[in-house]
Amino acid sequence: MAKNKTVFFCKSCGYESSKWLGQCPGCKEWNSFVEEPAAKKNTIGLTIGQDRIQMMKPKKLSEVETEEELRTKTEIAEFDRVLGGGIVKGSLVLIGGDPGIGKSTLMLQVGKKLSAMKKQILYVSGEESLRQIKMRADRLGTFEGDIMLLSETNLDTIESQTEQIHPDVLMIDSIQTMYKEDVAASPGSVSQVKECTSGLLRIAKGLGVTVFIIGHVTKEGMVAGPRLLEHMVDTVLYFEGENSASYRILRAVKNRFGSTNEIGVFEMESDGLKEVVNPSDYMLKGRPQDEPGSVVSVVLEGTRPMLVEVQALVCKTNFNMPRRTAAGTDFNRMNLLMAVLEKRLGISMAFCDAYLNVAGGIRVGEPALDLAIVAALLSSYKNHALKDKTLVFGEVGLTGEVRGVSQAQQRVAEAEKLGYELCILPKANVEKIGDKKIRLLGISSVREFAKLL
Ligand code: TYD
Ligand code: MG
Repeated sequence: MAKNKTVFFCKSCGYESSKWLGQCPGCKEWNSFVEEPAAKKNTIGLTIGQDRIQMMKPKKLSEVETEEELRTKTEIAEFDRVLGGGIVKGSLVLIGGDPGIGKSTLMLQVGKKLSAMKKQILYVSGEESLRQIKMRADRLGTFEGDIMLLSETNLDTIESQTEQIHPDVLMIDSIQTMYKEDVAASPGSVSQVKECTSGLLRIAKGLGVTVFIIGHVTKEGMVAGPRLLEHMVDTVLYFEGENSASYRILRAVKNRFGSTNEIGVFEMESDGLKEVVNPSDYMLKGRPQDEPGSVVSVVLEGTRPMLVEVQALVCKTNFNMPRRTAAGTDFNRMNLLMAVLEKRLGISMAFCDAYLNVAGGIRVGEPALDLAIVAALLSSYKNHALKDKTLVFGEVGLTGEVRGVSQAQQRVAEAEKLGYELCILPKANVEKIGDKKIRLLGISSVREFAKLL
Protein backbone atom coordinates (compact mmCIF):
# COMPACT_ATOMS: atom_id res chain seq x y z
CA MET A 1 0.00 0.00 0.00
CA ALA A 2 1.25 3.45 -0.81
CA LYS A 3 2.43 5.49 2.11
CA ASN A 4 0.14 8.38 3.04
CA LYS A 5 1.50 11.59 1.60
CA THR A 6 2.52 14.28 4.02
CA VAL A 7 3.61 17.85 3.66
CA PHE A 8 5.36 20.26 5.98
CA PHE A 9 3.94 23.58 7.11
CA CYS A 10 5.45 26.50 8.93
CA LYS A 11 3.44 26.96 12.13
CA SER A 12 3.77 30.70 12.17
CA CYS A 13 3.12 31.73 8.57
CA GLY A 14 1.72 28.63 6.86
CA TYR A 15 4.54 28.23 4.32
CA GLU A 16 4.20 24.83 2.63
CA SER A 17 7.08 22.58 1.70
CA SER A 18 7.51 18.97 0.69
CA LYS A 19 10.60 18.63 2.90
CA TRP A 20 11.30 19.59 6.49
CA LEU A 21 13.25 22.82 6.73
CA GLY A 22 15.17 24.21 9.67
CA GLN A 23 14.35 27.80 8.86
CA CYS A 24 11.20 28.99 7.14
CA PRO A 25 11.99 30.77 3.85
CA GLY A 26 8.76 32.74 4.24
CA CYS A 27 9.00 34.27 7.69
CA LYS A 28 12.57 33.30 8.70
CA GLU A 29 11.31 31.55 11.84
CA TRP A 30 13.56 28.71 13.07
CA ASN A 31 12.33 25.22 13.80
CA SER A 32 8.74 26.04 12.95
CA PHE A 33 7.94 23.22 10.49
CA VAL A 34 5.42 20.53 11.37
CA GLU A 35 4.46 17.47 9.37
CA GLU A 36 0.82 17.06 8.38
CA PRO A 37 -1.08 14.75 6.05
CA ALA A 38 -1.53 16.27 2.61
CA ALA A 39 -4.95 17.85 2.10
CA LYS A 40 -7.11 16.39 -0.61
CA LYS A 41 -7.51 18.78 -3.50
CA ASN A 42 -10.44 19.46 -5.82
CA THR A 43 -13.00 19.96 -3.10
CA ILE A 44 -13.38 23.66 -3.56
CA GLY A 45 -16.69 25.18 -4.53
CA LEU A 46 -18.87 22.10 -4.35
CA THR A 47 -20.64 22.94 -1.14
CA ILE A 48 -22.17 26.30 -1.88
CA GLY A 49 -24.92 26.32 -4.39
CA GLN A 50 -26.67 28.82 -6.57
CA ASP A 51 -25.53 32.01 -4.89
CA ARG A 52 -21.94 31.23 -5.53
CA ILE A 53 -22.51 30.51 -9.18
CA GLN A 54 -24.23 33.85 -9.54
CA MET A 55 -21.33 35.53 -7.88
CA MET A 56 -18.99 34.09 -10.46
CA LYS A 57 -20.61 36.06 -13.29
CA PRO A 58 -18.90 39.35 -14.16
CA LYS A 59 -20.79 42.44 -13.11
CA LYS A 60 -20.77 45.96 -14.50
CA LEU A 61 -18.80 48.42 -12.42
CA SER A 62 -21.78 50.75 -12.30
CA GLU A 63 -23.95 47.99 -10.91
CA VAL A 64 -21.65 47.13 -8.03
CA GLU A 65 -23.07 48.38 -4.77
CA THR A 66 -20.62 50.32 -2.67
CA GLU A 67 -19.67 49.37 0.83
CA GLU A 68 -21.00 52.59 2.36
CA GLU A 69 -24.57 51.46 1.93
CA LEU A 70 -23.88 48.03 3.30
CA ARG A 71 -22.45 48.97 6.64
CA THR A 72 -24.35 48.23 9.79
CA LYS A 73 -23.58 50.05 12.99
CA THR A 74 -23.58 47.79 16.04
CA GLU A 75 -24.10 50.78 18.36
CA ILE A 76 -21.09 49.67 20.34
CA ALA A 77 -19.19 52.81 19.34
CA GLU A 78 -15.74 51.52 20.30
CA PHE A 79 -16.27 48.41 18.18
CA ASP A 80 -17.73 50.29 15.20
CA ARG A 81 -14.86 52.72 15.12
CA VAL A 82 -12.23 50.00 14.97
CA LEU A 83 -14.07 48.38 12.10
CA GLY A 84 -14.08 51.69 10.23
CA GLY A 85 -17.68 52.66 10.95
CA GLY A 86 -19.66 49.48 11.44
CA ILE A 87 -19.69 45.94 10.10
CA VAL A 88 -19.48 45.47 6.36
CA LYS A 89 -21.79 43.00 4.64
CA GLY A 90 -19.91 40.02 3.28
CA SER A 91 -16.67 40.77 5.07
CA LEU A 92 -14.49 38.25 6.86
CA VAL A 93 -13.18 39.53 10.17
CA LEU A 94 -10.63 37.78 12.34
CA ILE A 95 -10.61 38.55 16.04
CA GLY A 96 -7.42 37.32 17.64
CA GLY A 97 -6.31 37.41 21.24
CA ASP A 98 -5.05 35.43 24.19
CA PRO A 99 -7.41 32.87 25.69
CA GLY A 100 -9.61 34.41 28.36
CA ILE A 101 -9.26 37.98 27.15
CA GLY A 102 -12.96 38.29 26.30
CA LYS A 103 -13.35 37.45 22.62
CA SER A 104 -16.44 35.27 23.08
CA THR A 105 -17.96 37.88 25.35
CA LEU A 106 -17.37 40.62 22.79
CA MET A 107 -18.95 38.54 20.04
CA LEU A 108 -21.97 37.72 22.15
CA GLN A 109 -22.45 41.39 23.00
CA VAL A 110 -22.21 42.33 19.34
CA GLY A 111 -24.74 39.60 18.62
CA LYS A 112 -27.00 40.97 21.31
CA LYS A 113 -26.96 44.47 19.82
CA LEU A 114 -27.45 43.25 16.26
CA SER A 115 -30.25 40.89 17.14
CA ALA A 116 -32.09 43.75 18.79
CA MET A 117 -32.02 45.39 15.35
CA LYS A 118 -33.74 42.32 13.91
CA LYS A 119 -30.57 40.95 12.34
CA GLN A 120 -30.27 37.20 12.09
CA ILE A 121 -27.20 35.94 13.96
CA LEU A 122 -25.73 32.45 13.91
CA TYR A 123 -23.23 31.87 16.68
CA VAL A 124 -21.27 28.64 16.27
CA SER A 125 -19.18 27.48 19.17
CA GLY A 126 -16.79 24.58 19.03
CA GLU A 127 -15.51 25.29 22.50
CA GLU A 128 -18.53 25.57 24.69
CA SER A 129 -21.85 23.83 25.05
CA LEU A 130 -25.10 25.68 24.43
CA ARG A 131 -25.68 25.81 28.19
CA GLN A 132 -22.35 27.50 28.78
CA ILE A 133 -23.12 30.10 26.13
CA LYS A 134 -26.54 30.67 27.67
CA MET A 135 -24.93 31.16 31.08
CA ARG A 136 -22.61 33.79 29.66
CA ALA A 137 -25.50 35.45 27.87
CA ASP A 138 -27.39 35.63 31.16
CA ARG A 139 -24.55 37.66 32.65
CA LEU A 140 -24.89 40.17 29.84
CA GLY A 141 -28.49 41.03 30.65
CA THR A 142 -31.69 40.43 28.75
CA PHE A 143 -31.58 39.93 25.02
CA GLU A 144 -34.21 41.93 23.17
CA GLY A 145 -33.80 39.88 20.02
CA ASP A 146 -32.84 36.26 19.68
CA ILE A 147 -29.74 34.66 18.28
CA MET A 148 -29.25 31.20 16.84
CA LEU A 149 -26.72 28.99 18.57
CA LEU A 150 -24.98 25.95 17.21
CA SER A 151 -22.48 23.80 19.03
CA GLU A 152 -20.54 22.23 16.19
CA THR A 153 -17.02 21.74 14.95
CA ASN A 154 -17.62 20.17 11.55
CA LEU A 155 -17.29 22.97 9.05
CA ASP A 156 -19.20 21.11 6.35
CA THR A 157 -22.24 20.99 8.64
CA ILE A 158 -21.78 24.64 9.50
CA GLU A 159 -21.63 25.54 5.83
CA SER A 160 -24.85 23.74 5.00
CA GLN A 161 -26.61 25.19 8.08
CA THR A 162 -25.50 28.66 7.07
CA GLU A 163 -26.83 28.13 3.58
CA GLN A 164 -30.20 27.07 4.99
CA ILE A 165 -30.58 29.75 7.65
CA HIS A 166 -28.82 32.46 5.64
CA PRO A 167 -28.02 34.68 8.62
CA ASP A 168 -26.77 38.25 8.35
CA VAL A 169 -23.84 37.49 10.61
CA LEU A 170 -22.02 34.24 11.28
CA MET A 171 -19.72 33.97 14.30
CA ILE A 172 -17.19 31.16 14.54
CA ASP A 173 -15.77 30.48 17.99
CA SER A 174 -12.98 29.45 17.42
CA ILE A 175 -11.24 28.61 14.18
CA GLN A 176 -8.85 26.27 16.02
CA THR A 177 -11.67 23.89 16.91
CA MET A 178 -13.11 23.61 13.40
CA TYR A 179 -12.33 20.83 10.96
CA LYS A 180 -13.19 19.74 7.46
CA GLU A 181 -13.73 16.04 6.88
CA ASP A 182 -11.71 15.84 3.71
CA VAL A 183 -8.59 17.23 5.38
CA ALA A 184 -6.77 14.48 7.20
CA ALA A 185 -4.95 16.65 9.74
CA SER A 186 -6.37 17.29 13.22
CA PRO A 187 -8.30 20.47 14.17
CA GLY A 188 -6.04 23.42 14.88
CA SER A 189 -3.35 22.24 12.48
CA VAL A 190 -2.11 24.54 9.78
CA SER A 191 -3.91 22.80 6.93
CA GLN A 192 -7.23 22.55 8.82
CA VAL A 193 -7.15 26.18 9.85
CA LYS A 194 -6.33 27.24 6.30
CA GLU A 195 -8.99 25.05 4.67
CA CYS A 196 -11.68 26.05 7.15
CA THR A 197 -10.92 29.71 6.63
CA SER A 198 -11.17 29.40 2.88
CA GLY A 199 -14.51 27.65 3.40
CA LEU A 200 -15.66 30.59 5.51
CA LEU A 201 -14.33 33.00 2.92
CA ARG A 202 -16.58 31.38 0.35
CA ILE A 203 -19.56 31.75 2.68
CA ALA A 204 -18.77 35.41 3.30
CA LYS A 205 -18.25 36.38 -0.32
CA GLY A 206 -20.71 33.95 -1.88
CA LEU A 207 -23.67 34.46 0.43
CA GLY A 208 -22.90 38.00 1.52
CA VAL A 209 -22.79 36.94 5.15
CA THR A 210 -20.53 38.85 7.51
CA VAL A 211 -18.30 36.28 9.16
CA PHE A 212 -16.44 36.84 12.42
CA ILE A 213 -13.74 34.30 13.16
CA ILE A 214 -12.31 34.04 16.63
CA GLY A 215 -8.73 32.83 16.76
CA HIS A 216 -6.56 32.21 19.79
CA VAL A 217 -3.07 33.57 19.69
CA THR A 218 -1.26 30.57 20.98
CA LYS A 219 1.97 30.07 22.82
CA GLU A 220 4.95 28.58 21.05
CA GLY A 221 4.52 25.05 19.80
CA MET A 222 0.75 24.92 20.25
CA VAL A 223 -1.83 24.82 17.48
CA ALA A 224 -1.57 27.04 14.44
CA GLY A 225 -1.96 30.68 15.36
CA PRO A 226 -4.22 33.16 13.59
CA ARG A 227 -1.23 34.98 12.11
CA LEU A 228 -1.25 32.65 9.14
CA LEU A 229 -4.80 33.72 8.33
CA GLU A 230 -4.10 37.41 8.14
CA HIS A 231 -3.73 37.53 4.38
CA MET A 232 -6.97 35.58 3.80
CA VAL A 233 -9.34 37.81 5.72
CA ASP A 234 -10.51 41.40 5.16
CA THR A 235 -9.99 42.67 8.65
CA VAL A 236 -7.79 41.57 11.51
CA LEU A 237 -8.54 42.82 14.98
CA TYR A 238 -6.52 42.01 18.04
CA PHE A 239 -8.03 42.09 21.47
CA GLU A 240 -5.33 42.77 24.02
CA GLY A 241 -4.86 43.66 27.62
CA GLU A 242 -2.79 42.76 30.63
CA ASN A 243 -4.08 39.87 32.66
CA SER A 244 -3.95 41.89 35.83
CA ALA A 245 -5.79 44.92 34.47
CA SER A 246 -9.45 44.93 33.55
CA TYR A 247 -9.21 47.25 30.58
CA ARG A 248 -8.99 45.78 27.07
CA ILE A 249 -7.87 47.35 23.83
CA LEU A 250 -9.29 46.29 20.49
CA ARG A 251 -6.84 47.18 17.75
CA ALA A 252 -7.10 46.87 13.99
CA VAL A 253 -3.93 45.48 12.42
CA LYS A 254 -5.37 45.15 8.96
CA ASN A 255 -8.54 46.62 7.56
CA ARG A 256 -9.65 46.61 3.95
CA PHE A 257 -12.59 48.82 4.90
CA GLY A 258 -11.04 51.43 7.13
CA SER A 259 -8.02 52.78 8.90
CA THR A 260 -5.75 50.64 11.06
CA ASN A 261 -5.02 53.53 13.37
CA GLU A 262 -8.13 53.15 15.43
CA ILE A 263 -8.46 51.49 18.79
CA GLY A 264 -11.42 50.70 20.96
CA VAL A 265 -11.11 50.64 24.72
CA PHE A 266 -13.24 48.40 26.90
CA GLU A 267 -13.35 47.38 30.50
CA MET A 268 -14.32 43.88 31.59
CA GLU A 269 -16.89 44.02 34.34
CA SER A 270 -19.02 41.39 36.01
CA ASP A 271 -21.78 41.95 33.47
CA GLY A 272 -19.72 42.03 30.31
CA LEU A 273 -17.52 44.47 28.45
CA LYS A 274 -18.21 48.15 28.97
CA GLU A 275 -17.03 50.86 26.62
CA VAL A 276 -14.48 53.23 28.06
CA VAL A 277 -15.45 56.55 26.52
CA ASN A 278 -12.70 58.54 28.18
CA PRO A 279 -9.55 56.39 28.41
CA SER A 280 -7.47 59.22 29.91
CA ASP A 281 -9.74 59.53 32.91
CA TYR A 282 -9.66 55.80 33.28
CA MET A 283 -5.86 55.56 33.17
CA LEU A 284 -5.35 58.26 35.77
CA LYS A 285 -7.85 56.89 38.28
CA GLY A 286 -6.29 56.74 41.74
CA ARG A 287 -3.23 58.79 40.86
CA PRO A 288 -1.35 60.13 43.89
CA GLN A 289 -1.25 63.91 44.33
CA ASP A 290 1.99 65.79 44.97
CA GLU A 291 4.12 62.69 45.19
CA PRO A 292 7.67 62.66 43.86
CA GLY A 293 8.20 60.19 41.04
CA SER A 294 4.71 60.45 39.56
CA VAL A 295 4.42 62.27 36.24
CA VAL A 296 1.54 62.51 33.78
CA SER A 297 2.23 62.28 30.07
CA VAL A 298 0.17 61.89 26.94
CA VAL A 299 0.70 59.13 24.40
CA LEU A 300 -1.04 58.29 21.16
CA GLU A 301 -2.89 55.01 20.82
CA GLY A 302 -3.62 54.87 17.13
CA THR A 303 -4.92 58.35 16.50
CA ARG A 304 -6.28 58.85 20.00
CA PRO A 305 -4.35 60.81 22.58
CA MET A 306 -4.45 59.22 25.98
CA LEU A 307 -3.12 60.46 29.30
CA VAL A 308 -0.96 58.03 31.24
CA GLU A 309 0.92 58.16 34.51
CA VAL A 310 4.63 57.30 34.64
CA GLN A 311 5.99 56.34 38.03
CA ALA A 312 9.60 56.02 39.03
CA LEU A 313 11.26 54.98 42.25
CA VAL A 314 14.96 55.73 42.56
CA CYS A 315 16.65 54.74 45.80
CA LYS A 316 20.04 53.73 47.18
CA THR A 317 20.92 50.17 46.31
CA ASN A 318 21.69 47.42 48.79
CA PHE A 319 23.50 45.28 46.27
CA ASN A 320 26.70 45.49 44.29
CA MET A 321 24.67 45.56 41.13
CA PRO A 322 21.82 48.07 41.20
CA ARG A 323 18.44 46.65 40.29
CA ARG A 324 16.49 48.19 37.50
CA THR A 325 13.09 47.22 36.16
CA ALA A 326 10.66 48.77 33.71
CA ALA A 327 7.00 47.78 33.49
CA GLY A 328 4.85 49.02 30.65
CA THR A 329 7.73 50.46 28.69
CA ASP A 330 11.05 49.45 27.17
CA PHE A 331 13.72 48.50 29.71
CA ASN A 332 16.58 49.44 27.38
CA ARG A 333 15.05 52.84 26.76
CA MET A 334 15.00 53.48 30.48
CA ASN A 335 18.69 52.50 30.80
CA LEU A 336 19.52 54.78 27.91
CA LEU A 337 17.69 57.71 29.47
CA MET A 338 19.42 57.12 32.79
CA ALA A 339 22.76 57.18 30.98
CA VAL A 340 21.77 60.49 29.36
CA LEU A 341 20.94 61.90 32.80
CA GLU A 342 24.27 60.77 34.25
CA LYS A 343 26.29 62.22 31.41
CA ARG A 344 24.39 65.44 30.72
CA LEU A 345 23.38 66.44 34.23
CA GLY A 346 26.31 64.95 36.09
CA ILE A 347 23.95 63.00 38.37
CA SER A 348 25.33 59.73 39.62
CA MET A 349 22.74 57.01 39.60
CA ALA A 350 25.28 54.20 39.55
CA PHE A 351 24.50 53.32 43.18
CA CYS A 352 20.76 53.62 42.83
CA ASP A 353 18.08 51.03 42.20
CA ALA A 354 15.54 52.32 39.73
CA TYR A 355 12.03 51.02 39.13
CA LEU A 356 9.82 52.40 36.41
CA ASN A 357 6.15 51.73 35.85
CA VAL A 358 3.50 52.99 33.49
CA ALA A 359 0.38 52.75 35.63
CA GLY A 360 -2.84 51.12 34.50
CA GLY A 361 -1.20 48.10 32.88
CA ILE A 362 -0.81 49.76 29.50
CA ARG A 363 2.31 49.28 27.35
CA VAL A 364 3.84 52.33 25.69
CA GLY A 365 6.50 52.13 23.02
CA GLU A 366 6.37 55.75 21.93
CA PRO A 367 9.47 57.97 22.23
CA ALA A 368 7.17 60.84 23.24
CA LEU A 369 7.16 59.26 26.69
CA ASP A 370 10.92 59.88 27.11
CA LEU A 371 10.66 63.25 28.77
CA ALA A 372 8.09 61.92 31.23
CA ILE A 373 10.40 59.02 32.11
CA VAL A 374 13.25 61.47 32.65
CA ALA A 375 10.95 63.69 34.71
CA ALA A 376 9.77 60.81 36.87
CA LEU A 377 13.32 59.55 37.47
CA LEU A 378 14.58 63.03 38.34
CA SER A 379 11.59 63.80 40.47
CA SER A 380 12.08 60.63 42.49
CA TYR A 381 15.84 61.07 42.69
CA LYS A 382 15.55 64.63 43.99
CA ASN A 383 12.48 63.75 46.03
CA HIS A 384 10.66 66.70 44.55
CA ALA A 385 7.16 66.44 43.16
CA LEU A 386 6.02 68.16 40.00
CA LYS A 387 3.28 70.73 40.39
CA ASP A 388 -0.26 69.42 40.30
CA LYS A 389 -2.07 69.68 36.94
CA THR A 390 1.21 69.50 35.05
CA LEU A 391 1.96 67.21 32.19
CA VAL A 392 5.09 66.40 30.24
CA PHE A 393 5.87 64.95 26.85
CA GLY A 394 8.74 64.92 24.33
CA GLU A 395 11.44 62.73 22.89
CA VAL A 396 14.89 62.81 24.46
CA GLY A 397 17.99 62.37 22.29
CA LEU A 398 21.41 61.06 23.25
CA THR A 399 22.91 64.50 23.72
CA GLY A 400 20.12 65.37 26.12
CA GLU A 401 18.21 67.45 23.61
CA VAL A 402 14.41 67.45 23.73
CA ARG A 403 13.00 66.82 20.27
CA GLY A 404 9.60 67.50 18.81
CA VAL A 405 7.01 64.74 18.54
CA SER A 406 4.16 64.11 16.14
CA GLN A 407 0.62 65.39 16.67
CA ALA A 408 1.57 67.68 19.55
CA GLN A 409 -1.57 69.69 18.98
CA GLN A 410 -3.86 66.76 19.70
CA ARG A 411 -1.89 65.86 22.79
CA VAL A 412 -2.17 69.38 24.17
CA ALA A 413 -5.87 69.49 23.34
CA GLU A 414 -6.46 66.30 25.31
CA ALA A 415 -4.57 67.69 28.29
CA GLU A 416 -6.58 70.87 28.15
CA LYS A 417 -9.81 68.95 27.92
CA LEU A 418 -8.98 67.19 31.17
CA GLY A 419 -8.26 70.43 32.98
CA TYR A 420 -4.47 70.46 32.99
CA GLU A 421 -2.89 73.86 33.53
CA LEU A 422 0.74 73.48 32.51
CA CYS A 423 2.24 71.45 29.70
CA ILE A 424 6.01 71.02 29.41
CA LEU A 425 6.80 70.06 25.84
CA PRO A 426 9.54 70.31 23.19
CA LYS A 427 10.30 73.87 22.09
CA ALA A 428 10.05 72.71 18.49
CA ASN A 429 6.37 71.91 19.01
CA VAL A 430 5.33 75.09 20.79
CA GLU A 431 5.21 77.47 17.81
CA LYS A 432 2.83 75.32 15.80
CA ILE A 433 0.29 75.20 18.58
CA GLY A 434 -1.85 78.31 18.63
CA ASP A 435 -3.26 80.11 21.64
CA LYS A 436 -4.43 77.80 24.36
CA LYS A 437 -5.90 78.14 27.80
CA ILE A 438 -3.31 75.72 29.08
CA ARG A 439 0.15 77.25 29.71
CA LEU A 440 2.77 75.86 27.34
CA LEU A 441 6.38 75.69 28.38
CA GLY A 442 8.76 74.78 25.57
CA ILE A 443 12.14 73.34 26.52
CA SER A 444 15.02 72.17 24.37
CA SER A 445 17.19 70.07 26.70
CA VAL A 446 17.00 67.91 29.79
CA ARG A 447 19.28 70.41 31.52
CA GLU A 448 16.61 73.07 31.11
CA PHE A 449 14.12 70.66 32.55
CA ALA A 450 16.28 69.89 35.58
CA LYS A 451 16.51 73.64 36.29
CA LEU A 452 12.72 73.84 36.22
CA LEU A 453 12.45 71.21 38.92
P1 TYD B 1 -14.27 34.98 27.34
O1 TYD B 1 -15.12 35.84 26.49
O2 TYD B 1 -14.72 33.59 27.59
O3 TYD B 1 -12.77 34.95 26.77
P2 TYD B 1 -12.22 34.29 25.41
O4 TYD B 1 -13.37 33.89 24.56
O5 TYD B 1 -11.35 35.36 24.80
O6 TYD B 1 -11.39 33.12 25.80
O7 TYD B 1 -14.11 35.77 28.74
C1 TYD B 1 -13.14 35.41 29.61
C2 TYD B 1 -13.13 36.09 30.93
O8 TYD B 1 -13.99 37.17 31.10
C3 TYD B 1 -13.47 35.08 31.97
O9 TYD B 1 -12.33 34.94 32.79
C4 TYD B 1 -14.60 35.65 32.72
C5 TYD B 1 -14.60 37.09 32.37
N1 TYD B 1 -15.93 37.68 32.32
C6 TYD B 1 -16.23 38.75 33.15
O10 TYD B 1 -15.41 39.19 33.94
N2 TYD B 1 -17.48 39.33 33.06
C7 TYD B 1 -18.43 38.86 32.20
O11 TYD B 1 -19.53 39.41 32.14
C8 TYD B 1 -18.10 37.75 31.36
C9 TYD B 1 -19.12 37.20 30.40
C10 TYD B 1 -16.84 37.20 31.44
MG1 MG C 1 -13.99 31.94 24.11
